[in-house]
Amino acid sequence: MTTTTTTAGTHPAGTLLDARGVTMRFGGLTAVSNVDLTVDEGEIIGLIGPNGAGKTTFFNCLTGLYVPTEGTVRFRDQVLPPKPHLVTQAGIARTFQNIRLFANMTVLENVLVGRHSRTKQGLLSALLRGPGYRRAEADSREKAMALLEFTGLADKAGQLARNLPYGEQRKLEIARALASEPGLLLLDEPTAGMNPQETRAAEDLVFAIRDRGIAILVIEHDMRFIFNLCDRTAVLVQGQKIVEGDKETVQNDERVITAYLGEPLEQPTDSTPTNDTEPSA
Ligand SMILES: Nc1ncnc2c1ncn2[C@@H]1O[C@H](COP(=O)(O)OP(=O)(O)O)[C@@H](O)[C@H]1O
Ligand SMILES: [Mg+2]
Repeated sequence: MTTTTTTAGTHPAGTLLDARGVTMRFGGLTAVSNVDLTVDEGEIIGLIGPNGAGKTTFFNCLTGLYVPTEGTVRFRDQVLPPKPHLVTQAGIARTFQNIRLFANMTVLENVLVGRHSRTKQGLLSALLRGPGYRRAEADSREKAMALLEFTGLADKAGQLARNLPYGEQRKLEIARALASEPGLLLLDEPTAGMNPQETRAAEDLVFAIRDRGIAILVIEHDMRFIFNLCDRTAVLVQGQKIVEGDKETVQNDERVITAYLGEPLEQPTDSTPTNDTEPSA
């Protein structure tokens, strides 16, 4: 994508996700405050911010896990249904900051679970194991294996998920999310716990997913990862979106620098060089 959008307002026809004024309160705590965010077809959008900024809570509002206290989320022009499985069916899939796999199921079985929302076979058909069921099951296995190929896990198909190294568990979560055939994939800290080589490979994987026509919204702390990948990046601080834009806009914004240093710019400490903040241009 060559265009960058720095303001919410007018959007090209291909707007996939349109979150408006999303606010999430827990008792007296406002975790997400009046956040607008759009994701267009084919985009990779970053969401960054210090710990506790409300990033995961915002994801939860986009996936039916939470119903926002205020605001609306539209996906493909439809207001998001208030249940996670309905959101998955509508075409939004996600991975979790804390990996959620079925540890005692195989790698392949974990991906098959992810296909559940796309298979029409009912319980009775499954119990009777008729020809329709067997055909659908064969089709599902084929698609699941193709996703394991795509994510580089095909040779681990028969292993228990819990025996995979951490980086591969993260990839398996992505494979499982892709199995629901999403139009938008939300990734919550996909490189957490990965070594630098795995992180670079994860960048390639995200680009490959986008090349399949799937838009991506990604939360990450690794700034190199974010700025290598993202068409636009939004910054959340204390629940509010303080900046959104391309790499240069975000990197050079004083409020972002302040948020990451954790101290006001007005009172610089003598020992902190101001040009020492990640990421460097
Ligand atoms: N279910 C919840 N109940 C109460 N407070 C919550 C809940 N989920 C998140 N929070 C609070 O909301 C704030 C934002 O958390 P979170 O969205 O996890 O931040 P981030 O992902 O940016 O690190 C934190 O103060 C957190 O303690
Ligand atoms: Mg989080």
